Amino acid sequence: MAAKKAKGKVVGKNPANPWEDHYTRLARKEAYAARSVYKLKEIHTKYDILKEGARILDLGCAPGSWLQYAAEMAGSSGDVLGVDLKPVLLALPPQARAVVGDIYDLSPEIRTWIGSGLDVVLSDMAPATTGMGDVDALRSAALSEAALFLASEVLLQGGHFVCKIFQGRGFDPFVAEVRRLFEKERIFKPQSCRKQSREIYVIGLGFQGRI
Ligand SMILES: C[S@@+](CC[C@H](N)C(=O)[O-])C[C@H]1O[C@@H](n2cnc3c(N)ncnc32)[C@H](O)[C@@H]1O
Repeated sequence: MAAKKAKGKVVGKNPANPWEDHYTRLARKEAYAARSVYKLKEIHTKYDILKEGARILDLGCAPGSWLQYAAEMAGSSGDVLGVDLKPVLLALPPQARAVVGDIYDLSPEIRTWIGSGLDVVLSDMAPATTGMGDVDALRSAALSEAALFLASEVLLQGGHFVCKIFQGRGFDPFVAEVRRLFEKERIFKPQSCRKQSREIYVIGLGFQGRI
């Protein structure tokens, strides 16, 4: 990115959005709702988690780029549901939809959709940040633990889990719990994550059932 530092502030090519970078522009060009899509794309390219026909729950789905990509990968026989505190304002393909909700209090509608189980649970949830490293890491860990608890309730045997978490306090115990519940766990920082960000993805492959 042709960016330079001016008085401690990173300035990109677009003065209206100093955070704009290659991935922001690519997302716009490819009609994705956010640059975050390239993180999921990298994860899927490496771990092959989004199969055709899969039933996928996307936690913290707004503005909707993971939903778009998951729906593309699952294809017309797939079934993808996103949940977020905020609405998704995109037109989605028929196999995907989004509902407004808090993952700490899932509606009966979502519980009914989950039915007898899911192939994949994704969580790109992020807390409201304070700028205080420890506080933000603990908030992120709390969201990640809630996502993992939900995944352990709704995943089918052999299912997969992808979860964003901030590195810091709460990270190691979270990874240990993913390791306990899944055949394999992986920690992956996509190239498309901003270098200064503390976010990283923990991936659980092959859910072993509640143990
Ligand atoms: C980084 S954004 C997700 C971006 C999304 N993956 C995409 O590609 O468009 C994080 C989202 O997590 C959501 N979130 C945070 N806490 C939540 C909660 N308790 N329940 C549902 N969504 C939550 C936020 O509202 C925010 O939209």
